[in-house]
Amino acid sequence: MCNFLPDRLIDLILSHDVVPAVNQVELHPFCQQRSLRQVMEAYRIAPMAWAPFAEGQHGLFTDPVLTAIGRTYGKSPAQVVLRWLQQKQIVAIPKSVHAERIQQNFEVDDFALSPADMVQIDALDLGHSLILDVPSLNEVYRLHGIRFEP
Ligand SMILES: NC(=O)c1ccc[n+]([C@@H]2O[C@H](COP(=O)([O-])OP(=O)(O)OC[C@H]3O[C@@H](n4cnc5c(N)ncnc54)[C@H](OP(=O)(O)O)[C@@H]3O)[C@@H](O)[C@H]2O)c1
Repeated sequence: MCNFLPDRLIDLILSHDVVPAVNQVELHPFCQQRSLRQVMEAYRIAPMAWAPFAEGQHGLFTDPVLTAIGRTYGKSPAQVVLRWLQQKQIVAIPKSVHAERIQQNFEVDDFALSPADMVQIDALDLGHSLILDVPSLNEVYRLHGIRFEP
């Protein structure tokens, strides 16, 4: 399942006999979903990060913090993000159409971010969605391709 925020997630859990195993949500350094992740942890629901690179928004691939951390390990900002997610035990589903980037995105098991690195990346959180504002009615209409003329 995907895009369940705390209120609908708890409602779903309390209305059914089976607790979901995974909730796939927008999750990247700029949108870290902290309160949702706390709820999911309490119910042992695995977080899965869609758009782990924020689809490149907010300058993720040139972000100075991610770039500086990556430089110390010989890794790209993308790899730093994937490693940060892995160390937080968050499943990531990065997307690329380029073979070399797909390969690069697998190469995140040969280094480890320090606690100080993790704190720096945690501090990048903007606390809101950049891509899909789930509770917004306009987003629901947009996803269903519905436009109202004035
Ligand atoms: N459930 C949902 O509501 C939902 C919503 C959105 C997305 N998703 C899923 O989430 C997955 C990924 O999301 P997404 O594609 O939206 O965003 P994303 O993975 O955050 O970003 C994809 C972008 O990053 C670039 N990229 C990938 N690896 C890179 C690297 N190592 N260095 C530099 N650039 C790199 C890609 O470019 P190139 O392709 O040109 O390499 C592409 O422009 C997809 O499977 C998608 O279906 C789910």
